[in-house]
Amino acid sequence: MGDGVSGATHPVSIAICGASLGSWRVDVSRRMADRATLARAYDRQSTRWPRVLRRFGFPAAYRTLAGRVLAKVGPRVGEGHLQVLDAGIGTGAMAEAVVDAWAGPVAVNGVDVSNAMLVAARKRLSGCVERLDLQVADLTGLPESDRQFDMVLAGHVLEHTADPDIALAEAYRVLRPGGYLVAAVTKQSLAGAAIGLMWRVRSAGPEQVARWIKRAGFDAPEVVDFTGKGLASWMSIGYVARKPFVDQRGVRLALNR
Ligand SMILES: C[S@@+](CC[C@H](N)C(=O)[O-])C[C@H]1O[C@@H](n2cnc3c(N)ncnc32)[C@H](O)[C@@H]1O
Repeated sequence: MGDGVSGATHPVSIAICGASLGSWRVDVSRRMADRATLARAYDRQSTRWPRVLRRFGFPAAYRTLAGRVLAKVGPRVGEGHLQVLDAGIGTGAMAEAVVDAWAGPVAVNGVDVSNAMLVAARKRLSGCVERLDLQVADLTGLPESDRQFDMVLAGHVLEHTADPDIALAEAYRVLRPGGYLVAAVTKQSLAGAAIGLMWRVRSAGPEQVARWIKRAGFDAPEVVDFTGKGLASWMSIGYVARKPFVDQRGVRLALNR
């Protein structure tokens, strides 16, 4: 895989550190958390998660990302309606940034493995969206049908998946052609290493994430850094990528619609 992660399905290990001494090589890695462990961990975090995000500056970072993608979408989305899927929605911070930035009505679907996070997301989003549909589900096997959404959000969740290729293939499937993937991924840094240790997640640099995104079929992503957004700029990077229009033979159409 070349990203410090080994194995295709759980248990997958993340490389933490390694050293060579003569003919000896010592590598330390940590197994990623499985789905049930993750769900329990996030269930416990659900009430304090919004505070954690605020402390690190993520609401402002997500607003930047939302502004960037909505400037691309422009007023083209049918009748000003926007259909958004937030995959790994957590308490709904990224969806809220999109809803706040979009002038028209927004329908939000959200999936998460943690039921308590969904309860918090419902509290935050109901009342400010046109329709809200939240489900306990895994983003590597989305319950949504093909070509349903104008936008798929993935805020700090690709890090948790054993195989980001599968998660991104799902995001691609449920997006309509011309729709946008909006992601934030923990970057490789001291902060990323600390988060990796604490949450048993991977971190990835922009080249690696761009490779994942392009492999799923998206156009090359715009990389959005969070400079000026507090600690968020040390911890993660944003990505905006479009699902291209393709003809029946799967050939990309040159015209941007
Ligand atoms: C770091 S939190 C981010 C939450 C939210 N997107 C945000 O930006 O604040 C990761 C969230 O993804 C959820 N999650 C982790 N792995 C998942 C998976 N395979 N499928 C769906 N949700 C997942 C967790 O339960 C948690 O709510």
